[in-house]
Amino acid sequence: MPSPSLFSVHVEPQGLRFDALSGVSLVESAREAGIVLPTSCRNGTCRACLCRVLSGRANHLIEWPGLSAEEKREGCILPCVATPESALRIEVPKAFLAPIQSPLAT
Ligand code: FES
Repeated sequence: MPSPSLFSVHVEPQGLRFDALSGVSLVESAREAGIVLPTSCRNGTCRACLCRVLSGRANHLIEWPGLSAEEKREGCILPCVATPESALRIEVPKAFLAPIQSPLAT
């Protein structure tokens, strides 16, 4: 099994950026960096997370992600079950930076 690689992911149009490990879903890597990508089921069926790859390559972690052949041709991915194979630029208009939680808040 190849060792995981770390890739830079840019989220447009906000200009957000996070590092993502190959083999880990983009949603999970974004969350680790404090960036929220819209999700619901997180298993590749509901399509709430559907977005487009503007540049770079991603691969799905499951065999049958809920995308049509046309959507795949257009570069759409489901980031809850997709992982990077190179540096990526993805278009996710509803992505946002998670509010920072104060350790003093109770
Ligand atoms: S969150 Fe449901 S397909 Fe990604």
